[in-house]
Amino acid sequence: MNKQNTAMNTDTSTFDIEKIRADFPILQQQVNGKPLVYLDNAATSQKPRQVIETLDTYYQEYNANIHRGVHTLSEKGTAVYEAAREKVKTFLNAESTKEIIFVRGATEAINLVAQSFGRNTISAGDEIIITELEHHSNIVPWQILCEQTGAKLNYIPINDAGELILEEYEKLLNKNTRIVAIGHISNALGTINPIKKIIDMAHAVGAKILVDGAQAVPHTKVNVKELGCDFYVFSGHKLFGPTGIGVLYGKEALLDAMPPYQSGGDMIQTVSMIKSTYNSLPYKFEAGTPHIAGVIGLGAAIDYVNELDLTVTAQYENELLDYANEQASQISDLKFVGTAKDKTSILSFTLGRIHPHDIGTILDGEGVAVRAGHHCAMPVMERFGIPATARASFAFYNTLAEVDALILAIDKCQKVFG
Ligand code: ALA
Repeated sequence: MNKQNTAMNTDTSTFDIEKIRADFPILQQQVNGKPLVYLDNAATSQKPRQVIETLDTYYQEYNANIHRGVHTLSEKGTAVYEAAREKVKTFLNAESTKEIIFVRGATEAINLVAQSFGRNTISAGDEIIITELEHHSNIVPWQILCEQTGAKLNYIPINDAGELILEEYEKLLNKNTRIVAIGHISNALGTINPIKKIIDMAHAVGAKILVDGAQAVPHTKVNVKELGCDFYVFSGHKLFGPTGIGVLYGKEALLDAMPPYQSGGDMIQTVSMIKSTYNSLPYKFEAGTPHIAGVIGLGAAIDYVNELDLTVTAQYENELLDYANEQASQISDLKFVGTAKDKTSILSFTLGRIHPHDIGTILDGEGVAVRAGHHCAMPVMERFGIPATARASFAFYNTLAEVDALILAIDKCQKVFG
């Protein structure tokens, strides 16, 4: 039975799941003799043909280097690249395109902030706050910065549901706190953090705050002006765009005061054998030939999600998660890991004594793709006293029927392992 139209309350006049799925060629295949059920969207999401065709057109019709040529192809490439920056600016509601820096992904953006902003403003005696919920990419750059500067790294703990304990955050904040860096949505558990409150609390002690939005932008509308965060980062490939491209948003005054992170072509104004001067924002942070196709593809991905409307897709995804939770709760031995009141799109679980890697392999045999492991969030696993979980992560192109397939595959897993 197709439960979509019976169980869901989403405004189906603007949300046509069959039409949406037709945009994703990769979903129309069989894996191991079964229809592909792709539930590894938190690792990377699939690309609509609108993005694929945009990349194809770039390479077939106007591939050229940008910001350098006076010829027609280069000028067209430059215009489309800069138009994508404008799209990102509007997508995040930033003040200016000077605040939008293209990088390889959220990881590079965090490293850029740690090494350019952090290295030049942090010293021994200063404190940085992150959380127990973070992805490694929002832990290790701060650990390195602390090793380099002698600053102290503090962690906001989480409760048994996988929610940040804000009373503990309050206790960690003090006049020495320089940076707070926090994920908007947890990749391992799906917890949505009360980001506005966390930002305001950081600012109240004069700290700057970076928000890792890698898991948030595919699921929620982000408004950096309203949030007031100092930095916001995300990766294109989780937002239905290409791999190898991401965004660092930073407040203009902060970016302006920061030294370059990498150096080379395009980030300079003048170079002599004695000294170089640097380009203005945002180019100061975009050394070398950028990932032109990636940026243009990201622009197409943003057009795509804008067309769908993230508020509508978020509602659909919530209903999908509710249904998955309800079905999964009937499986004996299935233990949810991460039960925050406010969460989205992620069902992380263990199944009795079956290792998550075995769950992943059996599910794959049924055509169901999930991630198994520590999800690059080892401190979260440590908090729950487990080495790993199996994680199903949803996108707006998933269906209730696919949730049913997941549940049947988990059932099979239990039978295989007795
Ligand atoms: N950060 C990605 C994930 O959560 C790779 O799977």
